[in-house]
Amino acid sequence: MADLYKYIGKQVLFTLDPEQAHKASILALRMGMHPKFEAAVNPRLSVKVAGIDFPNPLGMAAGYDKNGEVPQALLQLGFGHTEVGTVTPKSQLGNPKPRIFRLLEDEGVINRLGFNSGGHAVAKANLLKLSNFKGVVGINLGANKTSEDFAADYVTGIHEFAELATYFTVNISSPNTPGLRALQGADPLTDLLHRVSDARAEQHERLGRKVPLFLKIAPDLDDSELDDIAKAIGNSDFDALIVSNTTLSRAGLQSPVKEEVGGLSGKPLFEPSTVILAKMRQRLGTLLPLVGVGGVHSADTAFSKLEAGASLVQLYSGMVYEGPGLPGNILRGLVKRLEQEGLEHISQITGRAADDWAKGKF
Ligand SMILES: Cc1cc2nc3c(=O)[nH]c(=O)nc-3n(C[C@H](O)[C@H](O)[C@H](O)COP(=O)(O)O)c2cc1C
Repeated sequence: MADLYKYIGKQVLFTLDPEQAHKASILALRMGMHPKFEAAVNPRLSVKVAGIDFPNPLGMAAGYDKNGEVPQALLQLGFGHTEVGTVTPKSQLGNPKPRIFRLLEDEGVINRLGFNSGGHAVAKANLLKLSNFKGVVGINLGANKTSEDFAADYVTGIHEFAELATYFTVNISSPNTPGLRALQGADPLTDLLHRVSDARAEQHERLGRKVPLFLKIAPDLDDSELDDIAKAIGNSDFDALIVSNTTLSRAGLQSPVKEEVGGLSGKPLFEPSTVILAKMRQRLGTLLPLVGVGGVHSADTAFSKLEAGASLVQLYSGMVYEGPGLPGNILRGLVKRLEQEGLEHISQITGRAADDWAKGKF
């Protein structure tokens, strides 16, 4: 059934506007019309990161299931975790449509959605329906466009979802909310990390459970900005770093829609985001686990993210081009690569090619 996507499902979905296609895919998942990856958890792929047991290192990146409608179905595809959101305190419509574009020639996507979501209340109501549900579900937090204090919106998110989140991601790297990426600067970032950590500590006291905190950064950062972020997160009590969100770069693209405003993801993002990942690995060493995101569309690209320094890998755009069989194919491919190299466990490859990747050699 999974391969049917490439022959039939994709043809049908690609006749639709990308946002309609996204809606149709969510509906299909809600109705259970998806392939189930039935293989038992492979101990060679299971990893403990930030104190969380992940059945495998592959996750669905934020932005697909913004309102927490289909976490269970996504995990059934084979993903070891899924990230709901970005959720903002208040519901917001986002930018005018059209606002998602397929770059067919480049196998990329440009989006300028602008944190469209039903807000905390809708995501919370959806997640509360999942009683008895076991699985790793992160909640990706953002700020409303009109908020006067972005950091306060993240703090609100921590308090709102502490009981429901396996981990939190503080997303300060969407290019589609004006001013948001400025939170990556040394002083605002230090302040934000403190305020969010304090909120987590309050909830820890209340619930007796310390929900891990992940930070998600952009790929469009120079070396000194990376230094500042490494310093700020290294001095904080955050638990992991996600590298990266979409890029503003348009280097090397062929598609006629390449000049659309927004963040670029998919294949063209693979190399630049992996270089930034490796640079962060060099700066942080094993102090903080990294999550590699950007352009993963095969077992080999997932493997490279791990080699560049990631302990976990996420993807989104690969699903658009490869379909719902992709997570299963990647997991099978990762095991094959381990067998070919005579390696026992996936964690053995984390970071082994970081220096080459950081130099841009791959
Ligand atoms: C349509 C779309 C919407 C996205 N929305 C979000 C979002 O709400 N929050 C977020 O942190 N990242 C969001 N992202 C970024 C992805 O999570 C991911 O970081 C990026 O797309 C790179 O991975 P990929 O090349 O596998 O897609 C979005 C990406 C796409 C394509």
